[in-house]
Amino acid sequence: ALQAVIFDLDGVITDTAEYHYIAWKKLGESLDIPFDREFNEQLKGISREKSLARILRLGGKEHVYSAEEKEEFAHRKNEHYVSLLNSLTPEHTYPGIRELLLELQASGIPAVIASASKNAPQILRALELETMFSYVVHPDSVPRGKPAPDLFLRGAEEVGADIEACIGIEDAQAGIEAIKSAGMIAIGIGEEAGLKASGADVVLKDTKQLSLSFLERTLQEHSH
Ligand code: G6P
Ligand code: MG
Repeated sequence: ALQAVIFDLDGVITDTAEYHYIAWKKLGESLDIPFDREFNEQLKGISREKSLARILRLGGKEHVYSAEEKEEFAHRKNEHYVSLLNSLTPEHTYPGIRELLLELQASGIPAVIASASKNAPQILRALELETMFSYVVHPDSVPRGKPAPDLFLRGAEEVGADIEACIGIEDAQAGIEAIKSAGMIAIGIGEEAGLKASGADVVLKDTKQLSLSFLERTLQEHSH
């Protein structure tokens, strides 16, 4: 039976993946490195520092700036991102998420956050969801980010769940890879092609269909 559900945050619990995109795009344009949504898929699930490195590489500028300048760019992006978070309210929680969390709570199945974001606690507070999660993995507490499995493995460990009895839910290709390399069942949220290619067991176009019975069925059908 299902022992834990390990959620990504941005783009799974709420639409903050879009805020990251807006903030990175603005920074990119200020550095003369424009990019589109397709490139942005490669930034999802990736830490602030590594995302900046990917953008600079896209512009052929990875060796142009000093460490201090890069730090300033990452800081500027985060300031913009955090200013966008100010408008977040509980109504911004994606459809079906609060209901699923309530079902999990009622069944005693822990819900965990495994996000690369240092802003996760603030977002959960703004959505008034912080009490719904048994554990929030801090991204700096594990050696490797996604696509490595570390964040998901730590999440399962913290709540004492067996890996084969965990489901991970992700909107990022790097995140799906992380869940699969942890050995868990992976549910992708978003565009089917990219998420399937990354190894998702099931892809849903949005969070509406997520329910405890759907998760239990998915675990049964995809475990071996
Ligand atoms: C998540 C998002 C990424 C973001 C990363 C770090 O993984 O999908 O887009 O870069 O968190 O977020 P932070 O809020 O710490 O900059
Ligand atoms: Mg995400």
